[in-house]
Amino acid sequence: MADAEGNIEAKNYAVDVAAKNGGPNVKGAENLDWGVKARLWRIFDTASGNTLMLAFDHGYIMGPTSGLERIDLSIVPLIKYADCIMCTRGVLRSVIPPSCKTPVALRFSAGSTILTELNDETLVGIEDAIKLDAAAIAPMVAIGSEFEAKTIANLARCADFTAKYGIPTLGVTAVGKNLARDARYLGLATRVCAENGATFVKTYYCDEGFERVVAGCPVPIVVAGGKKLPENEALELAYKAISSGARGVDMGRNIFQSENPEAMIQAVGAVVHRGMKPAEAFELYRDLSAR
Ligand code: R5P
Repeated sequence: MADAEGNIEAKNYAVDVAAKNGGPNVKGAENLDWGVKARLWRIFDTASGNTLMLAFDHGYIMGPTSGLERIDLSIVPLIKYADCIMCTRGVLRSVIPPSCKTPVALRFSAGSTILTELNDETLVGIEDAIKLDAAAIAPMVAIGSEFEAKTIANLARCADFTAKYGIPTLGVTAVGKNLARDARYLGLATRVCAENGATFVKTYYCDEGFERVVAGCPVPIVVAGGKKLPENEALELAYKAISSGARGVDMGRNIFQSENPEAMIQAVGAVVHRGMKPAEAFELYRDLSAR
């Protein structure tokens, strides 16, 4: 029972000091609830404001992708360098150690494989995302595809979950085989995700006009790496994306298919969090690889 008498008198009211409420915000999160903000700040680094997300959800569509044959051997040792991991619930439960402190962006939709076109996506149950302590749920959104309406409806449903349970929604823009990865398309896709309630958006980088894509999207953009490039080119891509306003990368193949994934993820981290120039980051990659 609390004591009513004999307590030390409360007197440190600092009446001359303005109240410090809130703190920094992730772009577009100013008006969101505390739980959403807290989860976003598990994903985004509080010092740089950026995030290095390690994506290894490719198997849900591609099967045993090169570099992901044995996630226990290839990915688990990299997790400590990432701010967030992005994977399916199947791999999370079967392979990822629950002792890992890294937040999880849970791949939250499924429906197609590389053997078919983009398909009729369905969502994972929100109860499972809660059980798995997801820091974000990540549905795929296929703007311009035959299944556009279904995937936008899925995203809107996820945004309802965000509002109800405080778990941010990462809108994952998919590009179909016939869609151009240019600023016009990416600007449309990312904006549609944000307008429909995505808390942040994953998309692709384009050389021409990416600043406009970022400016037109009221929530943070993180950039996927795409197909494997030579390490120096992947670091340049990350640098150009961050310099153009992306708040991080959600990178998979250019890390886990690298000659030296552990060196590569650290070099990408230096670009994302310290703004290291690509040439210097490539030197870092080579130094770390030589050890
Ligand atoms: C794509 O839908 C997958 O979800 C990947 O997470 C994403 O493409 C990022 O991986 P990568 O850098 O290999 O493109």
